[in-house]
Amino acid sequence: MDKMVDYKSLAAFYKGKKVFITGHTGFKGSWICLLLNQMGAKVIGYALEPPTTPSLFEQIGIEKEITHIIGDVRDLSMLIKAIEVNQPEIVIHMAAQPLVRESYKNPVETYAINVMGTVNLLEAIRQNRGIKAVVNVTTDKCYENREWHWGYRESEPMGGYDPYSNSKGCSELATAAYRNSYFNSKEYQTHGVALASARAGNVIGGGDWAEDRLIPDFIRSIIKGEKVQIRSPYAIRPWQHVLEPLTGYLFLAKALYEKGPEFAGGWNLGPDDSDAQNVEWITHRICELWGNGAGFEVDKNPQPHEANYLKLDCSKAKVELNWYPQWNIETTLESIVEWTKAYLNKENLKEICLKQINRYFNL
Ligand SMILES: NC(=O)c1ccc[n+]([C@@H]2O[C@H](COP(=O)([O-])OP(=O)(O)OC[C@H]3O[C@@H](n4cnc5c(N)ncnc54)[C@H](O)[C@@H]3O)[C@@H](O)[C@H]2O)c1
Repeated sequence: MDKMVDYKSLAAFYKGKKVFITGHTGFKGSWICLLLNQMGAKVIGYALEPPTTPSLFEQIGIEKEITHIIGDVRDLSMLIKAIEVNQPEIVIHMAAQPLVRESYKNPVETYAINVMGTVNLLEAIRQNRGIKAVVNVTTDKCYENREWHWGYRESEPMGGYDPYSNSKGCSELATAAYRNSYFNSKEYQTHGVALASARAGNVIGGGDWAEDRLIPDFIRSIIKGEKVQIRSPYAIRPWQHVLEPLTGYLFLAKALYEKGPEFAGGWNLGPDDSDAQNVEWITHRICELWGNGAGFEVDKNPQPHEANYLKLDCSKAKVELNWYPQWNIETTLESIVEWTKAYLNKENLKEICLKQINRYFNL
């Protein structure tokens, strides 16, 4: 079985396709805009202003290469209008409040954006004719966490201990309800919409500037010449480079577009088991790769609850979508060190991202 990503056929499919991306000003959103742009797609982005300063979105100057809409997913009428005016064929929903600790501070806003934002988008899609494929991006944290040492499968129940994880579980349930009620496979000939959701792992890569995430915290500490403070050193997470799930979303949307409801439902898009490492291991390794005395210490303050073990079973995506992780954790961490050194040396960051995209796809 061929385990390399077939970039050529992916790019041939996306060339000229109108793809509506919510959350395009964020970390994953900026990378997917760049990737789709490289493939010749017509990208329409819908999001709030970039959530961080600095932001990858501004650093790679992608705004001028896409249709850039500043809008709130809580605003149904604006979403309906944006879809009506731009008539996309594919929708990838990534807009969210994506941080666990922020969700403890602002649960109502987290639910409003992550749950009602999803419902509004699905409703805007329902009221439109012409969209064929929809991918709702949720998370590995949407499952009811049983602290299992093995990976969660797509059929496992939704849950979520904290407001963020639970809001993504709710977003999954709303997606399933819309699929059953309005985009049912039995009536596919009438509505023509194939709707799926994708659950990725802990996504890392150059250009993430979010608060309270390990790699951005590490980079900020390096810049200040301080040791990075880590929380939950023994928590195991499925770490993966940002290009891994993004490629998975593109595979999935293509399959939905070409083959319809056969591919509707939930999909895990995580790394291989050997790349699910604990926080301390990851921090130690990235400090080694960085050199120059980078170090870390464990933050002993009490922390809000977060799961200890979290892995995904991605057999379904491998067998049915023929999607495979391309980079192991070592290559991923090396790429982050490369990106960050380029940032500190004031190099052209769009060029660095493109170089990494080319390397990822063996171009
Ligand atoms: N980064 C990860 O480790 C990870 C892992 C699994 C899943 N995810 C999911 O992937 C998606 C993208 O995550 P990210 O890391 O790029 O986050 P990010 O914070 O960098 O980007 C979030 C995006 O959502 C937009 N947004 C926020 N509230 C909005 C609103 N009310 N209306 C419109 N847009 C709004 C922001 O403007 C931004 O464009 C999210 O759905 C997140 O839950 C992320």
